[in-house]
Amino acid sequence: MAIHSVTKRFGILTAGGDCPGLNAAIRGVCRAAHDRYGMEIIGIANGFRGLINEDTKILHPEDFSGILTRGGTILGSSREKPFAPVDKDELASTKVSAIKETYSRLGLDCLVVLGGNGTNTTGCKLSREGLNVIGLPKTIDNDIAGTDRTFGFHSALAIGTEAIDRLHSTAQSHSRIIVIELMGNKAGWLALYAGVAGGGDVILIPEIPYDLKAIARHLEKRAKSGKTFSIVVVAEGAMSIEEASMEKKERKKYRSDNGPSTGYRIAREIEEKTGMETRATVLGYVQRGGIPSASDRVLATSLGTAAADLLAADKYGRMVALLGNEIGSVDLSVPEGKVKNVPADHFMIDTAKAVGTCMGE
Ligand code: F6P
Repeated sequence: MAIHSVTKRFGILTAGGDCPGLNAAIRGVCRAAHDRYGMEIIGIANGFRGLINEDTKILHPEDFSGILTRGGTILGSSREKPFAPVDKDELASTKVSAIKETYSRLGLDCLVVLGGNGTNTTGCKLSREGLNVIGLPKTIDNDIAGTDRTFGFHSALAIGTEAIDRLHSTAQSHSRIIVIELMGNKAGWLALYAGVAGGGDVILIPEIPYDLKAIARHLEKRAKSGKTFSIVVVAEGAMSIEEASMEKKERKKYRSDNGPSTGYRIAREIEEKTGMETRATVLGYVQRGGIPSASDRVLATSLGTAAADLLAADKYGRMVALLGNEIGSVDLSVPEGKVKNVPADHFMIDTAKAVGTCMGE
C-alpha cells in the first residue's frame, strides 16, 4: 500500500511492569507498520532508559516474527521515569534532554510507547516537549483511564482464578481460611474479577476500605452454616478503615511494620479476630509471566495495528484504546496522571454481593 505519511521511521519501547501480550502488541504495531506502510522501526531497549542511553537497534521482520505467544517483552522494560528527579544533583531535565537528543539523532518521526499509567503519562509529557508520541495501554491492573480494558488483564485474571480454584481444595481439606493476595496496588480490578470468577467468600479491594468486624461476622456465619473453610481474595493495596484514615506516610510505616505484605497482614488480623486457622498465599509475579490468553492476544494485536494506522495517518499525541467493542484512540492527556479505580457503583461489586460475597463492609 502506498503511503504518503510523514511518518517513515519510528521508535518503539515497552516500559513499567511487564505483562502477557506485550510481544503480541509489538508484533501488531511492527507488522502493520512495516508490511502495510513500509516504515522503518527502531527498537529501544528497557523502556525510557534505552532512549536516555541510546540503547537501540533497527528491528527487521525476523525480530518481530514468532513472538505472538511469548510472555514478557523482547525489548526489555524498566521503571525509568525521566521526569522524576533522582536526587538533588541530578535534574530530571538532563534525562529529558537526553531523550530528545536521541530522538532527533535517530531521525525518529514518532515514538510508540507501550505501558501503564506512568508510561502513558511520560509519553504525554514528552509530546508537550515537542516529540510525536503514540501510547498503548498495557497492564494486568486494568487501571488506565481512557480504555475499557488493558491488555495483560485477561491473562492475569485467568492465572488468579486458577490459583483461587486450587486453593479451594486445600482450604477445604484442612478446614482453613486461606487469604490470597493478587496484584493491584491502587485499583482492585484484578482481585474483584478473579474473586468473582473463583467464587471468593470475601473480596477486599483498595476502593472499599474494609471493616475487620464485618469480615469476621461473615466468616463466622459461614462456619456456623457448616462451611468449614473460606477463601479471602485481597488486592495488594487493600486497606482497613483505620488505614484509610491515616496519612500516606503513616500508612506506609504501619504497613512496613506489619508483615511482608497485605495478604499476610490480613491473614493475621483474621486469625486474631476469629480464632480460625488462617494461611496466606501471595501470587506475586506469576500473574505477570507467561503466555498471553487468546483474548489478550486479540486485544494486543488490534491495538498494535491501530497504533500503526495512527502512525500512517500522522496522528500523534494519542493512546489507542478499547472503546466499548471498538478499537479507537483518545488524547494522551486522558490517562495522564490518573488511575482508573473501580467505581463504587460498578456492576461487578453488586454481582459479588448478590452471590453472597463479603466486600469487607
Ligand atoms: O504491573 C503493575 C503491577 O503489577 C502492580 O500491580 C504492582 O504493584 C507492581 O506492578 C509491582 O511491580 P514491580 O515489583 O515490578 O515494581
